[in-house]
This record gives sequence, structure tokens and C-alpha cells, in this order.
Amino acid sequence: MAGLATPMAIRVAATLSLVERAGSAGATAERLASETGTATPAMRCLLDHLVTIGVFDLDLKSGHFRPTDLGAQMSEDAPEGIKPLLDINSAGGRAELAFVDLLGTITTGAPAYVHRYEREFWADLDTSPQLRRSFDAQMNWRFQVQAPQIAERFDWSRFSEIVDVGGGDGLVLAAILHAHPDLRGRVLDLSPAAIAATGRFAAAGLDDRAGAVSGSFFDPLPAGADVYLLSDILHDWDDDHAREILAGCRRAAAPNGTVVVIEPVRGEGADTAIDLFMLMCFGGRERTVDELAGLAADCGLMLHDSGPVAEGRTALEFGVAPHG
Ligand SMILES: C[S@@+](CC[C@H](N)C(=O)[O-])C[C@H]1O[C@@H](n2cnc3c(N)ncnc32)[C@H](O)[C@@H]1O
Repeated sequence: MAGLATPMAIRVAATLSLVERAGSAGATAERLASETGTATPAMRCLLDHLVTIGVFDLDLKSGHFRPTDLGAQMSEDAPEGIKPLLDINSAGGRAELAFVDLLGTITTGAPAYVHRYEREFWADLDTSPQLRRSFDAQMNWRFQVQAPQIAERFDWSRFSEIVDVGGGDGLVLAAILHAHPDLRGRVLDLSPAAIAATGRFAAAGLDDRAGAVSGSFFDPLPAGADVYLLSDILHDWDDDHAREILAGCRRAAAPNGTVVVIEPVRGEGADTAIDLFMLMCFGGRERTVDELAGLAADCGLMLHDSGPVAEGRTALEFGVAPHG
């Protein structure tokens, strides 16, 4: 369980695209080393361990290393979609590496990501369009099933205008607008994600009802919509920042407005490994319904309803409290 050799061997293999390079015909250690600009004896040592753990097979006659069915899962085009979580040049794989500094996070509560990369996660993504794209792709992959569920299982038809706060490149908003033709909406996110969302809406023929705003959710939000959505946002933040985001929604919402929080909820499907990741990467955490309701109440938002909305996700619906 605890040895780092195996997870790191798998991550380096994914980063060097060994499965794609070897293909079903396989390749020698020499060829893989030459193609990747790595040292042949070191590549052989890596491949030997990948054989031991069942990720590659070795054909002794030809000296070819071939990916097994297990190994093929880390290929770029494999349906499992795990490569971005393993490739250390992708946002997800890069973030996972900060787990080596977990002791510091557990000691101080501060995110190891900042310690390792000297920038907060979101600022780090801003330094590289490739990192940002890999993050958005990972977000899209993880919500392939959930986005349509969120669109259909929650009653969005009561509303006329939605602001998807931190809505990424627009996957969830596009799904909601497709399912509810009378609804209009905007994504608010950091500039690269907002630009990508604009492209998505145009490509999907939604640009007459959907738009994107570049900005920070710590600044005033587009005002006057009747519903503000926070999908997988609050768990990225500690309590003080989560309150700031909720208070921003509360201030921007129309009278009688609604704030919908959708995320994994502790005790209702939140995963302990993801919880630890949120702490290590962002200083965030998974919360119970009561904890989320408590944060929202501090911001003048009263919990009206909560329930499962998608695989691993709960929707909490908050109304603006009278005199809140
Ligand atoms: C975990 S992703 C969730 C994306 C989307 N809501 C979803 O559920 O697929 C968090 C999003 O928050 C955005 N974000 C982070 N800091 C932000 C800020 N200060 N202002 C606006 N968006 C921010 C990120 O760019 C990212 O798209």
C-alpha cells in the first residue's frame, strides 16, 4: 500500500506515453529510450517493474515490451480517461505529486501544493495554457455522466436566468440550457475558462442564450439573476473563502433569489481520498449538509432543500433569508 515505486513508475510511464509509443506491437527498451530521450538502462529498469506489476508484458524472443489490458488504460484515448490524472505535466498529475509534502499539510493545515510549486493551484494554472486545458479536460471527463443528470434531476425550469459561478468551460451550463430551452445563463470564471466557455456555447448553438464573463468570484458577481450555481466550488476553499463566495452570490441574487450548491457531501458519498486531496491541494474540504448550511446561514442564505442530484453529488438549495 505504501511503496511509492509502483505509483511513480506508472506516472512516469504515462508521462512518457510509453503505452502509446509501444502500441500493440510493443517496442524494445532501446527504442522507447531513444524516442523519449531517456537513459536506456534506466528505461529497462522502469519497464521491468511495469512488467512485474502487470502493466506491460515482455516478449523474451523479440525483447518487445507490450502494454497489457491494464496498461492500455493509461493510453491517451482509453475510455477510462485516467491519463490526465497520471501524467505529471497535466494539472491533475502535477497536483498529485504534492502529496509527498502531506506531512506539512497535516502539521499546519496549509496546502502542500503551494509549498511545492510556490503558487496556489489556480494561479499555477494561469501560468500555462496547457495546464489549464488539461484541467478543463479532466473536469469534463469527470462530469460526462453527471452534467446531464444535474440538468435533468434538478428543477431548473422554475428559473429564467442562471449564473454558473466558477462554471469552468461551460459543460454544466450547456447541459442545463439544452434541457431547459426557456432558460438563459452565464458562466463566471477565470479568463481562460471563460474564453473556452464562449467557444463551447457558440459551437453548441447556444450563444443566443449563454454567455461567459471573465472575472473572479471574490469580486462582485453579475447581478440580478434568479439562480446562482456553485458546482464543485466550495470544497476547493477553506471556510472563510467559502463564506466570501456564498456572500457574493447572496449580494448579487435578485430578491427571492436562489443559490444552488452542488458538490460531494460528507456522509453522502464524499470520498475520503478526495477529501484529503482537497485539503492537500487547496486547503479545502468536503463538508456535511449541516456544515454547508451553517456557512450559508452566516451569509444570509437559508437551506430550503437538499438531496442527491447526480452520481456522488448532492444539491443544496438556499433562499435569501428575509432581512439576511
Ligand atoms: C473544480 S472546478 C469546477 C468547475 C465547474 N463548476 C464544474 O463543476 O465542472 C472549479 C472552478 O473554479 C474556478 N475558479 C477558481 N478560482 C476562481 C476565482 N477566483 N474566480 C472565478 N472562478 C474561479 C476554476 O477556474 C474552475 O473552473
